[in-house]
Amino acid sequence: MDETTPNIARMYDYFLGGSANFAVDRTAAEEFLRVYPGNTAWAQINRALLGRAVRHLCARGIDQFLDLGSGVPTVGNVHEIAQRENPEARVAYVDIEPVAVHHARHILQGNTQAAVVQADIREPDEVLNAPEVTELLDFSRPVGVLAVAILDILHVEDPPGLVSAYRDACVPGSALVITNGAELSMTPEEREGIDQVMGQTTTPHVTFRSPEEVAALFPGYTLLEPGVVPSAQWRPDEPISEEQALRSNGYAAVGVL
Ligand SMILES: C[S@@+](CC[C@H](N)C(=O)[O-])C[C@H]1O[C@@H](n2cnc3c(N)ncnc32)[C@H](O)[C@@H]1O
Repeated sequence: MDETTPNIARMYDYFLGGSANFAVDRTAAEEFLRVYPGNTAWAQINRALLGRAVRHLCARGIDQFLDLGSGVPTVGNVHEIAQRENPEARVAYVDIEPVAVHHARHILQGNTQAAVVQADIREPDEVLNAPEVTELLDFSRPVGVLAVAILDILHVEDPPGLVSAYRDACVPGSALVITNGAELSMTPEEREGIDQVMGQTTTPHVTFRSPEEVAALFPGYTLLEPGVVPSAQWRPDEPISEEQALRSNGYAAVGVL
């Protein structure tokens, strides 16, 4: 485990008020918040979107989830949300970061319907064939694949190709949830500051995407209404203002097969 380089999993944990982080993460996270004070709102909006999307997929009858880049467990974990909607729901978490995986293993002890695998999601065969995944998820039935706040920090040649590898493992009725950072209300200076702070972390490249670029991450999927929108605007529980929507600084969409 690298405790000397700031890590986004542990910084994100710090942003959300967790304690699974090291001094180097807290320093980078504080610097991130200094250059971009809107980040706390971003993290909360992103996390709330995850909850709404999972609840929606449960309502559509999906009861299995593969959470790619799941992060350090925090308030409102996918298995808690899904199992509240459907006690039979199953969730496989995947993360590359040892602290995130360690914490997830700890809180999932004794839960026979949720597991975590430490893997690089850029290796879909490894993920899809991991025993924790194959023993838990039945890919002959619909699966909800979650790629929430992960594709923007992933350095891959062909992001739609990576998504397709997971899609090909899924049957009709399956779904994909994506959120991706975007410059909605942040200033160019804030964006530059983010690039500088992230440049020092283990995931130094951040790719913001336009709505069209986010839509291109759903090859072969049909996007559910309202399509690609600022994350806070994706089926909000209550009406939100335009200003709230812009504070998302990221887009969300859900596609189905
Ligand atoms: C910003 S967090 C998002 C966490 C969660 N999906 C959410 O939205 O609340 C990104 C997560 O992706 C993980 N990650 C980054 N690169 C990864 C990779 N190549 N394979 C698996 N996980 C990765 C990080 O460790 C981190 O936990």
